[in-house]
Amino acid sequence: MYISQAAGDLTESKLHALAASAATFNRLAGVTGVLLTDGARFFQYFEGPHDGVDAVYGRVRSSISHRGLREISSAVVKSRQLPYWEMHAIAVDGGAIDRLVAAYWEEERGGLNAEKESGMMVISELLDLPRSYTGR
Ligand SMILES: Cc1cc2nc3c(=O)[nH]c(=O)nc-3n(C[C@H](O)[C@H](O)[C@H](O)COP(=O)(O)O)c2cc1C
Repeated sequence: MYISQAAGDLTESKLHALAASAATFNRLAGVTGVLLTDGARFFQYFEGPHDGVDAVYGRVRSSISHRGLREISSAVVKSRQLPYWEMHAIAVDGGAIDRLVAAYWEEERGGLNAEKESGMMVISELLDLPRSYTGR
């Protein structure tokens, strides 16, 4: 997962085209995840097999549609958190992006942090997923 800044005006049609192109590629690569944006920043989480994740990350990094990409976390997960999401783009407010950045993302590495909220819990809350969806 990473955050980045949208390059130029992020219109609805631009976001739609980006998400459609991403979903098409991700389907082939076996990658699932979610793309959240407040119109100025992106937060993206994606998961899948190593080769698929590498291919997607390569496309993400070479995209001219954003800049200032900062990786937040990268870990091996035991099972998918968002198995049915090829790549949905979801509009959220800036506070939601701030929360995601401040959240704790190291649980998959066996970490624990009582002071921060769990990143995956924030995602499932923002996506309004049933609790069982992410297996938590
Ligand atoms: C925030 C963001 C997320 C993206 N996510 C994906 C993705 O999940 N899978 C993918 O194949 N490409 C992804 N891309 C790359 C887009 O598909 C890419 O923008 C498209 O190929 C057009 O290239 P361009 O942005 O350089 O014009 C992403 C790009 C951005 C800016």
